[in-house]
Amino acid sequence: MILQTPRLRLREFLPSDLTAYSAIRDHPDFRLLLNGRDSSPERSAELLHQFVEWSLESPRSRYQLAIELPMDGLIGSCGVRIQCVGGSDASFGCELAREHWGRGYGLEAGRALIEFAFHELGVDRIYAETLARNHAALALASRLGMRVEKRHDDRVALEVLASEWKSEG
Ligand SMILES: CC(C)(COP(=O)(O)OP(=O)(O)OC[C@H]1O[C@@H](n2cnc3c(N)ncnc32)[C@H](O)[C@@H]1OP(=O)(O)O)[C@@H](O)C(=O)NCCC(=O)NCCS
Repeated sequence: MILQTPRLRLREFLPSDLTAYSAIRDHPDFRLLLNGRDSSPERSAELLHQFVEWSLESPRSRYQLAIELPMDGLIGSCGVRIQCVGGSDASFGCELAREHWGRGYGLEAGRALIEFAFHELGVDRIYAETLARNHAALALASRLGMRVEKRHDDRVALEVLASEWKSEG
């Protein structure tokens, strides 16, 4: 599957993306936001393997696409994942290489994936969870029309419904 936005190309991950994908996750600023979760090359390899497996599922419910810039190649990933086939809720996540933060790419990729989930997959609700101190993730979620569903300790859960997304225009 390929989604084209004004500046970005969202495409399926390939095993050959491993070096670039590992480098994105291995940045110190990025590791801070993983909250102790594993950012090792081995974990990146596991995740990449999972994304490729998801792309081969049929029927398919999970999409984690590579974000590419024409001149830079892989700069991140963005996904919507329905947890079970036929389910109506999907989780959302986006990650970009440190040098590409704050340029509107997260918003551009996120809009394309959420649009796809609501209109092509027929999802009713999209949710995300992030650390309360992850201001960029919270701002991105808010710009995507998500509102806070609940707060728990240092985490914030957000959601947007299909009906609300339509009203976003
Ligand atoms: C979260 C992330 C994907 C956001 O992508 P991005 O391309 O940097 O975000 P955008 O440039 O599209 O900005 C979206 C909105 O967030 C705001 N924003 C971006 N970074 C911000 C920051 N550090 N603090 C406050 N607001 C911020 C932007 O101003 C914009 O809002 P605006 O249009 O009203 O000005 C990116 O920062 C990232 O990859 N972080 C590391 C991985 C991660 O934490 N992912 C989320 C895990 S839940």
